[in-house]
Amino acid sequence: MPRPIIYVLLVLVALSLIPVGLMYKSRVSPKEGTRLQIVYDMDHQSYVKPQTKSEFFADGQSMRLHPSGTVARGQLQENSEFYRGVIRDTTYTEVFPLEVTAEVVDRGQERFEIFCAPCHSSSGNGAGMVHARATALAEGTWTPPTDLTSQTVVDRPVGHIYHTITHGIRNMPAYGPQIPPKDRWAIVAYVRALQLSRNATLADVSPDVRAALEAEPPAVSVAAPPAGDTTGGTPTQNQGE
Ligand code: HEC
Repeated sequence: MPRPIIYVLLVLVALSLIPVGLMYKSRVSPKEGTRLQIVYDMDHQSYVKPQTKSEFFADGQSMRLHPSGTVARGQLQENSEFYRGVIRDTTYTEVFPLEVTAEVVDRGQERFEIFCAPCHSSSGNGAGMVHARATALAEGTWTPPTDLTSQTVVDRPVGHIYHTITHGIRNMPAYGPQIPPKDRWAIVAYVRALQLSRNATLADVSPDVRAALEAEPPAVSVAAPPAGDTTGGTPTQNQGE
C-alpha cells in the first residue's frame, strides 16, 4: 500500500476517536445541566408549565379535572363520626369514635400545646399569648378565645368540639387543613381532660387521697392567675419553673 494512503487512514482513525472521547468526557465531568444522553428514555418530554395554556385540549386547561364523585383510593372517609364528628350528617356524636387511651391523651396534649394554646392557653382558660398581645394592642376588634373549661364547652358533644377544630367557629379559624382527623380527636380528648382537671371537686378524688388533702390545708391558695400570667398555670406550678 502506498505510504500516503496509510497516513490518510491513520489520520481518519485518529479523527474518528474524537467524538467517542467527547462523549466520554461529557458523561463523566461534573455538569449543572443534564448529562449527554445517548438514549433519552422518557427523561425529556413535552409538558405544560403551570398557569399556561394547553393547545392540546379544547378547553385550554392543561390538567384534567376529576370526574365528579371520584374518590382516591383509601380516602373514602365513610366513617362520618370519625371524619366529621356527626352521625349521619345531622347530629354531633356524643361518644369518641376511637378508643381514648393514655397515648391518645398525651398526643392530644402535645398537639393542643402547638395548635390551641397560643390562643386558648395551656390550661384552656382562653388567656393565651395571642390573646395577651391582642389585648395589649387594644384595637377593639378582638373576640377573646372561649374558656374551654367553661360550662358551654363542657356541655358541647365531642363531635361539636371536633367540628370546631375542623371548620373553626364564628371568629376562630379552621384547623382541619393542618391537623389530621386522628389528631383532632386526640385534642378533643385532651380538652375533656382539661375540663375534668379544672372543674374537679374534692368529691372526685379517691377516698384515701382525699383524707390526706383534707388533713393539711393547701400551702398556696389556688386563686385566679395574676394579671400578666398568660400561661394560665396555678401559682404553685409557676413557682417551680
Ligand atoms: C387564633 C386563635 C385561636 C386558636 C389557635 C384556636 N382557637 Fe378556639 N377559639 C378562638 C376564638 C377567638 C374563639 C371564640 C370565637 C367566637 O366566639 O367568635 C374560639 C372558640 C373555641 C371553642 C368554643 C366554640 C363553641 O362551642 O362555642 C372551642 C371548643 C375551641 N375554640 C377549641 C379550639 C381548639 C381545640 C383549638 C386547637 C386546635 C383552638 N380552638 C385553636 C380562637 C382560637
